[in-house]
Amino acid sequence: MNTSKRLNAGNAIPTIGLGTWQLADGSETVRAVRAALKVGYRLVDTAKIYGNEESVGRAIRDSSVSREDLFVTTKLWNSDQGYESALKAFAGSLERLDLEYIDLYLVHWPGDDIHRRSESWQALTDIHGTGKVRAMGVSNYSISQLTEVLKTSIPPAVNQIELHPFNYASQKQLLEFCEQQGIVVMAYSPLAQARRLQDPTIQNIADQVGKTSAQVMLRWSLQHGAVPIPRSSHPKRIEENFRVFDFELSPEHMKTLDNLSDGSSVMHRRNIAGWYLKDRLRRGLKRLS
Ligand SMILES: NC(=O)c1ccc[n+]([C@@H]2O[C@H](COP(=O)([O-])OP(=O)(O)OC[C@H]3O[C@@H](n4cnc5c(N)ncnc54)[C@H](OP(=O)(O)O)[C@@H]3O)[C@@H](O)[C@H]2O)c1
Repeated sequence: MNTSKRLNAGNAIPTIGLGTWQLADGSETVRAVRAALKVGYRLVDTAKIYGNEESVGRAIRDSSVSREDLFVTTKLWNSDQGYESALKAFAGSLERLDLEYIDLYLVHWPGDDIHRRSESWQALTDIHGTGKVRAMGVSNYSISQLTEVLKTSIPPAVNQIELHPFNYASQKQLLEFCEQQGIVVMAYSPLAQARRLQDPTIQNIADQVGKTSAQVMLRWSLQHGAVPIPRSSHPKRIEENFRVFDFELSPEHMKTLDNLSDGSSVMHRRNIAGWYLKDRLRRGLKRLS
């Protein structure tokens, strides 16, 4: 299996990356990114809303891996949608990361306002023209929202979506559409946030191939052509999640895993709203202390 995929923008994206949502800004994020780079990850996924861009940038700048070999993704948050606000938000992310350019800039969520969404895309197109972003993409976009963007002058290079065996049936059509359109799918929550690692079917396959449940879930993602971005704060698990290139799941294993799908999503609206509320409270308390 190749260790990178060519994007329609021309640059190549590594086939696995480190996710950083919920990694606390400061030593937790710096340690995780350092550990990842040490074992061979070359893709790091962050976002303005994760509040850890500065730490991601610090770990990257401190590492001995050259910038051209690294691939950094960050995202435009919902409240920054619109032309001027998107330009400003991008400048803020670039400054916090303290990098000369970003490899991939994503619209984090489509939102309900089609006008603001298209203004944001125009802003990304203009930023792309400056060379400060190598590829532009979207996240959580449906087929109809992707169809809108595909009518513009620059097609999205990536759609980052929730993807794991438990929601495969509901994402299958989207996955196929992206493949037909040359849009790379980045799989977020590829471990279903570790909620189903004890699933007996996954454990059984893991025993058969001599790997862990997490490795089986990530390998499933890779064999579906997606780029998984598992997150962990533990160096041992970060390494475990990267060791997925020395085995293969058989077509029967893939089918069994596909059939685990019960439509369950770890990121439904209620969860997201709850998390952002808790995060704002946590940051508010931190400022006060
Ligand atoms: N675009 C979007 O809207 C969006 C939404 C969600 C996520 N994302 C991105 O996708 C990344 C990954 O998704 P996620 O963070 O939701 O969940 P995930 O990667 O599916 O799961 C993370 C959880 O799994 C645990 N874990 C990791 N490796 C493990 C292993 N080998 N064995 C056992 N447990 C393990 C982690 O705990 P420990 O830290 O304790 O190891 C953590 O609790 C995010 O970090 C973010 O970068 C994007």
